[in-house]
Amino acid sequence: MLELQKVPFHVAFLDAQQVDGYAAHLARLEPAARVLRFHGQPPHRLTDDFIAAHASDALGGGAVVAGYYDGLVLRGVGEMRIHAGDPATADVALSVEREWRGRKIGEELMGALILEARYLGIRRIVVACLRDNLVMQRLVTRFAGDLRRHNGTVLGIIERHRDLVRAA
Ligand SMILES: CC(C)(COP(=O)(O)OP(=O)(O)OC[C@H]1O[C@@H](n2cnc3c(N)ncnc32)[C@H](O)[C@@H]1OP(=O)(O)O)[C@@H](O)C(=O)NCCC(=O)NCCS
Repeated sequence: MLELQKVPFHVAFLDAQQVDGYAAHLARLEPAARVLRFHGQPPHRLTDDFIAAHASDALGGGAVVAGYYDGLVLRGVGEMRIHAGDPATADVALSVEREWRGRKIGEELMGALILEARYLGIRRIVVACLRDNLVMQRLVTRFAGDLRRHNGTVLGIIERHRDLVRAA
């Protein structure tokens, strides 16, 4: 009799049970990646305590969080935070561990969050990253088409009417 194989890689939405796993994933990011992930925060603030508090807040209701699992270990995360004063707008930030980058995991997480946003009635997703973060900009243009530059930040805006329409 054939035995069904367990799928080793999968994307799933996280709940409050996964706070430690999310914090452990963020803590495995190398320092430069932490700075890119939490751009706007001074590097000295990006301690393990900060990361643990961030994961706890996100999974305590602060965000919608999609995770990429390799086996049982979280190796990539997409976090979507709905704006407090505007429930039709949300910010998204991604993180993928170094050894797992370049395999379209970030793209897959972004796609999962865009679908979830559609379900939640979110019409506008904003992805902000540092001007030097060319990898993230490349990824976002696959969904957002064009990017807006403002001082040291680059914004990708994914509008509802054009979500899931990829740039050629
Ligand atoms: C940004 C990040 C999430 C991307 O994750 P990923 O799984 O590697 O992304 P993907 O594989 O889906 O796509 C990366 C894209 O960048 C391209 N890329 C890879 N290395 C690159 C480089 N050095 N310069 C420019 N583009 C590059 C890839 O070719 C791909 O583009 P393509 O789809 O047109 O081929 C990951 O690099 C990361 O975690 N970085 C540190 C944290 C961070 O910057 N977070 C973003 C804050 S919002």
